[in-house]
Amino acid sequence: MAITFYEKNRLFKLDTPNASYLFAVGEGNYLLHVYYGAYFPDTAIAPMVFRSDYASFSPDAAGAPEAHFSLDVSMAEVSGNGVGDYRLSTVVLRYPDGTDATDLRYVSHRILPGKPALEALPHIYLQSEEDADTLEITMQDPATGVKFLLYYTVFRNLDVMVRSLRVVNDTDKTVWIEKAHSLCCDFPENNFDLIHLYGKWAKERSVQRLPLMQGIQSAASKRGASSHFHNPFLCLARKETGEENGECFGFNLIYSGNFSADAEADGYGGTRVSVGINPVDFGWQLLPGDSFQAPECVMVYSAEGLGAMSRTFHRLYRKHLIRGAWQYRKRPLLLNSWEGCYFRFDEEKILQLAKDAKELGMEMLVLDDGWFGHRDDDTTSLGDWFVNEKKLKGGLAPLVKKINDLGLQFGIWFEPEMISPDSELYRAHPDWCVQIRGREKSLGRNQYVIDMTRADVRDNLFMQMKQVLDSCPIAYVKWDFNRNLTEPASLALPPERQKEFFHRFILGTYELQERLLQEYPDLLLENCAGGGGRFDAGMLYYSPQIWCSDNTDPIERLSIQFGTSLCYPPSSMGAHVSTSRRTGYDTKAAVALWGTFGYELDTAELSDEEKEIVKQQVAFYHQTYDTIHNGDLYRLIAPEDNGFTCAWNFVSEDKKSALLTVVIMRRREFQTLIVRLRGLQADALYRCSATGQTYTGAFLMGAGINFSDSDMNSDGKSAVLYFEQID
Ligand code: GLA
Repeated sequence: MAITFYEKNRLFKLDTPNASYLFAVGEGNYLLHVYYGAYFPDTAIAPMVFRSDYASFSPDAAGAPEAHFSLDVSMAEVSGNGVGDYRLSTVVLRYPDGTDATDLRYVSHRILPGKPALEALPHIYLQSEEDADTLEITMQDPATGVKFLLYYTVFRNLDVMVRSLRVVNDTDKTVWIEKAHSLCCDFPENNFDLIHLYGKWAKERSVQRLPLMQGIQSAASKRGASSHFHNPFLCLARKETGEENGECFGFNLIYSGNFSADAEADGYGGTRVSVGINPVDFGWQLLPGDSFQAPECVMVYSAEGLGAMSRTFHRLYRKHLIRGAWQYRKRPLLLNSWEGCYFRFDEEKILQLAKDAKELGMEMLVLDDGWFGHRDDDTTSLGDWFVNEKKLKGGLAPLVKKINDLGLQFGIWFEPEMISPDSELYRAHPDWCVQIRGREKSLGRNQYVIDMTRADVRDNLFMQMKQVLDSCPIAYVKWDFNRNLTEPASLALPPERQKEFFHRFILGTYELQERLLQEYPDLLLENCAGGGGRFDAGMLYYSPQIWCSDNTDPIERLSIQFGTSLCYPPSSMGAHVSTSRRTGYDTKAAVALWGTFGYELDTAELSDEEKEIVKQQVAFYHQTYDTIHNGDLYRLIAPEDNGFTCAWNFVSEDKKSALLTVVIMRRREFQTLIVRLRGLQADALYRCSATGQTYTGAFLMGAGINFSDSDMNSDGKSAVLYFEQID
């Protein structure tokens, strides 16, 4: 059992293979955090001190006047509001009398085998009840009777805990939730580095690592999507922690809407992490008998650096978040029409792409934007999900038949959450778009956002998509989302529920994606949001892959893919070879191989020589697929490490194969470049498929491979080496 409760000192101990997490029911039934860090066995439990240094400015905890302790200086498992803990609140309620003090006291707990199901929200699931146990703690506000359930799912074979919070109003009065974060995690020290992922369009998820400073640091979004700018991921690392050494604590919210991931270093030397739905622009009316479930937040512990933390996230997401038919099925190698054609195509052009794709060994043709309504540019037709017969005469079915007859599958692009002012749908239902009555609506990429909070809107979208998907065999859908929200309100919500809009919006999106997957269980979904504007764990629950970025330049992609991999598995990163500038096709493929791999170019522009190169790449993709998609990633040299090289290797789960990639971002004269692999079996013998040379794992990890030769000494050069174990 991964969860132990010690009756005598009312202490909970939660154990994963390498981590222990302790907290206790203290005086006044406050839930006090005790410890999170390296695992220690139960026998080592000595009386453990809660941080309780006391200052005259710190109020006594109301429920324990004699105990002489203050919430102000104690570590907490959950924090209310206005009752003496002045750091980040986990949950804040407003009551009918207008006040918002929120006090949470322990009432009871249950230890459950496995993990209870979560409705309406993406979540971690178990393969078997043996994978994890769950602790459910019931807390209550003594003044109002509102209950709070805290959940801790503790994995037995991974250093993972999954936490969430549920507010249950079983009182007879309506209350309003002003903040409901998913977790509070306190540390008794604050000499950490804070790592988070920031960016913008075409530069998503760059890594930033800075010393944690006094006060609150926050990565957040209020754009209606997790966004290009910040990601719902945060990591606290010890100063000495590097890629392969040292302690770090990773937090990732399974959510695609507005979030905040906050870290607060306080004056007493402690740190609090609080992650959840962004309380800005959020509120929730909770009627008597109602409850509210906050999204899940994953916590990963690593004592062996950031690399091990990432690999734990990757394994967890591959096995316990991504689901459905495509979880382990080999994904088709696709050619996407976007960068090759943009809006300029007709049936003939698409068929030519398909023929070339087939000849080059690809498996699917994806028709991107521009196939519907009368869309010839980005000013029209979103919402009119029927074929643009001016471009595709006779509709989709005959085209898809011809493509299928070639032996290729077919995929298509939708942007369901959007509506163009120039569309039949908008003319018929102007009230269906997100707006505030009496206020001018802001356009973004010439489009409005459709009101996903409404069931009638979702039904309409579902029926329109169904008509397309039933009209011919469609194996793949790319689901895009190309602008952020403004004038955030629904004409269908009453005033007292308008603050629920953002959360209801993303719940609506989740519901429609779920409905699609239920109807078409074999459909491969790829999420996308103007590139990687919604690359998060919430989306991974519905689609095993997400388009990583509209930036397909292989050199620029390096920092995007490195950053994304801090938390998300390479098998989930949409990555294509395109006609983007700078390097040869070899390096474009070397970088795209890190992710799902595919092509996004006009095949008519490829020379015969380039076509031969593509054919070889396709064969190489098949050879290395399993090592990349189901293996472990080792980041060897990050783009920011030395400014001129980047290197990484994959190792298959059974360590029988490995793939090493080295990219020269910028040429350096007379620079020694030795790259040492990681994660191999030291005493095994590996053969390099390109050279036939054999090496022991120990040699490859110790001495490494020398890339200092002149062949590698120019901008954009790369080397990709595949190793297989020999007996
Ligand atoms: C977004 C996507 C692209 C492409 C275009 C189409 O920018 O990220 O891949 O689908 O939309 O308009």
